[in-house]
Amino acid sequence: VPRTGEVVFDKVTFTYPGAEQPVLADISFTARRGTTTAIIGSTGAGKTTLISLIPRLHDATSGTVSVGGVDVREAQLESLWARIGLVPQRPYLFAGTVGSNLRYGREEATDEELWDALAIAQGEDFVRAMPETLDSPIAQGGTTVSGGQRQRLSIARALVRQPDVLIFDDSFSALDTATDARLRAALDREVTDATVIVVAQRVSSIVDADQILVMEDGRIVDRGTHSELLQTSPTYQEIVST
Ligand code: CTP
Ligand code: MG
Repeated sequence: VPRTGEVVFDKVTFTYPGAEQPVLADISFTARRGTTTAIIGSTGAGKTTLISLIPRLHDATSGTVSVGGVDVREAQLESLWARIGLVPQRPYLFAGTVGSNLRYGREEATDEELWDALAIAQGEDFVRAMPETLDSPIAQGGTTVSGGQRQRLSIARALVRQPDVLIFDDSFSALDTATDARLRAALDREVTDATVIVVAQRVSSIVDADQILVMEDGRIVDRGTHSELLQTSPTYQEIVST
């Protein structure tokens, strides 16, 4: 019996409506609960498209995507979304306060839960330093915070929802390597039950992943751990060396 939050892609292909060429071809993998699956590959490889099939932002053209053993096409959208925390590649903050942005998706979260999420997301210090902390105003689009702060608030927002599946789309790119490392260590320590999927450009963000999928032109060309791929994957070696 597949466990809560397990994400399975089975021979998935995807073509954008109106496009001629498929963007994803023959994608199969299993992302297990309590583990981290990383997806790496050059720009345009199809990483964002792949993860967008999990919360059904798009539907697979063929093949199946399932979460917790249920085909996402048969799941009720609201309950599917309640179980998925997706930090988008371009995170969006809306006009309101830090707190209201963090509570988006789980209005009943307590202040303590917000601080716990901020601590993991490495956002605690800068929010505490704001004049009104959780009540500090945020402008529409988050223009009053830096790109790295916006990323961390967006990560904290996903954590507040306590999802079974946590997806980070290039979410660590605006962080310096030390903050990136602290954030990943905190995630490892505090988020032990979720299925974590990390799209990354930087190899340092994914060296500890339980499995790494190397994508090229809409296909998974290689897979393994960091040390396995260093031995077996020319594509991965090239990514590591650039
Ligand atoms: N694409 C498209 N229509 C969209 C989004 C993407 O036709 N609405 C195409 C892109 O032009 C690209 C391919 O789909 O050729 C894969 O895009 P994407 O999944 O966004 O690639 P990523 O691997 O996420 O690229 P990046 O690292 O730049 O984020
Ligand atoms: Mg992308």
